[in-house]
Amino acid sequence: MRELFDTKTDTNEVKRQLSFIEEGRRIVSELADQAGRKLTACVVTFGCQMNARDSEKLSGILEHMGYVLTDNEEADFVIYNTCTVRDNANQKVYGKLGTLNAYKKHNKLMKIALCGCMTQEEVVIDKIQKSYPFVDLVFGTHNLYAFPELFVQMMQRDLMIVDVWESTTKIVEDLPIVRKYPFKSGVNIMFGCDKFCTYCIVPYVRGRERSREPEEIVCEIEKLVADGVKEVMLLGQNVNSYGKNLPSKTTFPELLRMIEKIEGLERIRFMTPYPSDFGDDMIECMRNSKKICKHIHLPLQSGSSRILKRMNRRYTKEEFLELALKLRKELPDVALTTDIIVGFPGETYEDIKETLDVIEKVQFDNAFTFIYSKRTGTPAASMPDQVAEADIKVWFDEVLSLVQECAKKRTALLKDQIADVLVEGINDHDASLVTGRMSNNTLVHFPADASMIGQIVKVKLETCKGFYYLGNLVNG
Ligand code: SAH
Ligand code: SF4
Ligand code: F3S
Repeated sequence: MRELFDTKTDTNEVKRQLSFIEEGRRIVSELADQAGRKLTACVVTFGCQMNARDSEKLSGILEHMGYVLTDNEEADFVIYNTCTVRDNANQKVYGKLGTLNAYKKHNKLMKIALCGCMTQEEVVIDKIQKSYPFVDLVFGTHNLYAFPELFVQMMQRDLMIVDVWESTTKIVEDLPIVRKYPFKSGVNIMFGCDKFCTYCIVPYVRGRERSREPEEIVCEIEKLVADGVKEVMLLGQNVNSYGKNLPSKTTFPELLRMIEKIEGLERIRFMTPYPSDFGDDMIECMRNSKKICKHIHLPLQSGSSRILKRMNRRYTKEEFLELALKLRKELPDVALTTDIIVGFPGETYEDIKETLDVIEKVQFDNAFTFIYSKRTGTPAASMPDQVAEADIKVWFDEVLSLVQECAKKRTALLKDQIADVLVEGINDHDASLVTGRMSNNTLVHFPADASMIGQIVKVKLETCKGFYYLGNLVNG
């Protein structure tokens, strides 16, 4: 059968875009000369790890073009990499655009761009064109790699440029990247999603599921490790359906075993596995691995089989419970976290009780609880029995408080253990402490200085503070 998608990076396209980066560089350098100062650029990320990784790509390109990267949104070039999974993310962007417009009035050089999942929606494009005409460039998720080319066009024209594609078959991966952390990195192993949960907009804005060749993924990680990376997070909407479109049909556990062999790599994380695709081969793979972190994020969404069916999730309450309890038994030191949606159309308190029952039985180590958000164009948006806001609020609080109670109980069990901790940075509130992450994703704060950042060290977990620990370094 002919492959519908490319699985390898398109090297010609990489070359084309690199030449646009050169051209962009000349344009930026000329403007900087005229202004008598360096130009600054700010990339603002909304949404998930995929977007965070995309932002690193945008930052890499901007830095290569001569911009100085900054977190300050009063920069000469500001780009919002947007998320549309829930409506509040969209509202935030519209609000912030107003502020950018005010900045732009005082800076003739300033350019504003929008990209990411929101811009894949027609209603959003219409709104931007009508109400936010000061935006200079709008592009989508499928042509992110063409940013250098679009940037050059934007600099040559005064009108808003809108270039959003419905889909792509291409993979273009080897453009410059600036990583937020020198010691850890996300790695895209696949793009898109084919699951079409009825509430979710991701399949519409990220396109069909496509995996990258395992050799190219391994090669990217080898380069990252040579550059100082110790931990990778393998990214995909359903990582355990990895490989289905590949000629080799490499499975996710097979990919994990290939990555495990990379010398110098110390930790492997992945996000997100789909419950009904989490087979015994994955359990075996995690049990035998020295590098895969002791954390599985397994989205439940709802504990009611009736609601799960309406959500088009492909498992029942009983099947989820069976899997979760098997994971607890077979991998006892692995933390299990989840996502839960409250207020899906047609949900009643009886369904919420089922969700509470699953939380109680599984005792998740942590959970993200979301209020259902109606996304235009998804099947759930036109389901008749949308739930009253007042009910959702009460149910949400009940779910959240049980989730927090379980999370605290689970965290407390770790007390007095000695844990391997990857130090991520200086503590936000107390500069005498550093903050690190355990293999199971729990945060630990302990006295140390910046020289420890990026190292994996042993820490005694002394004081449990609810969801995190205070500890001390263990010598030797
Ligand atoms: N692919 C992953 C998650 C992607 S989106 C998975 O299948 O689990 C991240 C989370 O956002 C989802 O797990 C879900 O809990 C939440 N989410 C997605 N669409 C939503 C919506 N319309 N309203 C509220 N939460 C939503
Ligand atoms: Fe959305 Fe479902 Fe795909 Fe996850 S699996 S991205 S929730 S459609
Ligand atoms: Fe949001 Fe897009 Fe991720 S909609 S959650 S940024 S895939």
